Amino acid sequence: MSCLASLSAPLELPAGVTLANRLAKAAMSENMADDNGAPTDELVRLYDRLGHSGAGLLISGNVIIAPGGRTETHNVVVEDDRHLLELRRWAAAAQADGAKLFMQISHAGRQAPRMVTSDPVGPSDVPLVGMAGLFAHPRALGPAEIEGLLQRYVNTARVAMEADFSGIQVHGAHGYLVSQFLSPLSNRRNDEWGGDLAGRMRFLLQIVERTRATVGPDFAIGVKLNSADFQEGGFSLEDSMVVAQALEAAGIDLLEISGGNYESPRMMGDGAPRRESTRRREAFFFEYAEKMRTTVDLPLMLTGGFRTAAAMADAIDSGAIDLVGIARPMALEPELPARLLTGQAQAAADIEPKVGVRLLDNMLQLAWYQRQLTRMGDGLDPDPKLSNWGIVARLLGSDLLAIVVRTLGRPPRDALAARATGRAR
Ligand SMILES: Cc1cc2nc3c(=O)[nH]c(=O)nc-3n(C[C@H](O)[C@H](O)[C@H](O)COP(=O)(O)O)c2cc1C
Repeated sequence: MSCLASLSAPLELPAGVTLANRLAKAAMSENMADDNGAPTDELVRLYDRLGHSGAGLLISGNVIIAPGGRTETHNVVVEDDRHLLELRRWAAAAQADGAKLFMQISHAGRQAPRMVTSDPVGPSDVPLVGMAGLFAHPRALGPAEIEGLLQRYVNTARVAMEADFSGIQVHGAHGYLVSQFLSPLSNRRNDEWGGDLAGRMRFLLQIVERTRATVGPDFAIGVKLNSADFQEGGFSLEDSMVVAQALEAAGIDLLEISGGNYESPRMMGDGAPRRESTRRREAFFFEYAEKMRTTVDLPLMLTGGFRTAAAMADAIDSGAIDLVGIARPMALEPELPARLLTGQAQAAADIEPKVGVRLLDNMLQLAWYQRQLTRMGDGLDPDPKLSNWGIVARLLGSDLLAIVVRTLGRPPRDALAARATGRAR
């Protein structure tokens, strides 16, 4: 089959939601809500544009179930139906041209930064290693709080359905709360929510089962899951397979495979030169997806590293995956899916902004791409020439860099350090 034919084939999810093709915009936190957590005109404008991108599926950036679980100060927060009108406008703009919009629902747990909360929660009181400047020490959730959070996930999903989203995606990857429950490194509980894998995955399964019971069979439920955390003693590939089987039995519609967390940010690649097999297939977690395919019979989406139409089509043709997830390239070239599907483009631009300091570069990468989303929200085109140092200066302006400097315990660059120390006090 030609590249174009494989990528253009529609995909029907078990809930009956049909995606027009095999290209999906993966979640990218937009940080574009107002001070009350409501979607803004800028967010609607961004999704109006992405709605004409040609992608069959758009997954929103994380939408947070409780204010203390934000990943950034201006995430959309959905606790009840107070933002229903704005959410409806968002869903309508995104889906006007036939794309389906899923709301990614999330809670950051111990990865909620100090800017958001001084009292982050997690399954256990295990802090992130080496990041005390950015994240306060987490408190272990009590059983009643866990029940309360489960109810919030379900509420948020119900509101998404009422706002005419086509589905939700539970963010179970990247070290956020669900992923903290899954990992034996961050979940040291010995009650029913911890211990063996059956206990550690109970939180995720309860979210899925209770959500399904509330939204019925025709609303799509997806989960983004780590193939592994890539940490010794952490959530492993074997664990991931078992969780995937349990999710299949619970009746999810789509499993997106990613990997890593804030301590081990492999979702963006590992920074090392890619292994030959990975380079050929581009996708960071392709081998994991192949193994996952032998384990479950679910629609699988793979995200991380895809840049060429040929590699995307190969991945679909191999049978290992059903949907190609694309994040950064869509922030830079929002019409990329349409151009790939019509043969106008063979590959995405691949820009990795860097200033040469590891922790700073991880943040720069996110901030640089998020800035492109902001530009589109403002009605502008993305700017591939956006200055790395301009973005660093913005981070400085938000006090974030000062916090990073404290975290690192040493200045990244002399010139920056002089400015940052003044702010760190
Ligand atoms: C600016 C930015 C924000 C992101 N926010 C989220 C998010 O809210 N939820 C999520 O699951 N992944 C998030 N990601 C990770 C992406 O979904 C994706 O897994 C990662 O960028 C690798 O895919 P890519 O190589 O196509 O960019 C974000 C990535 C970027 C660049």
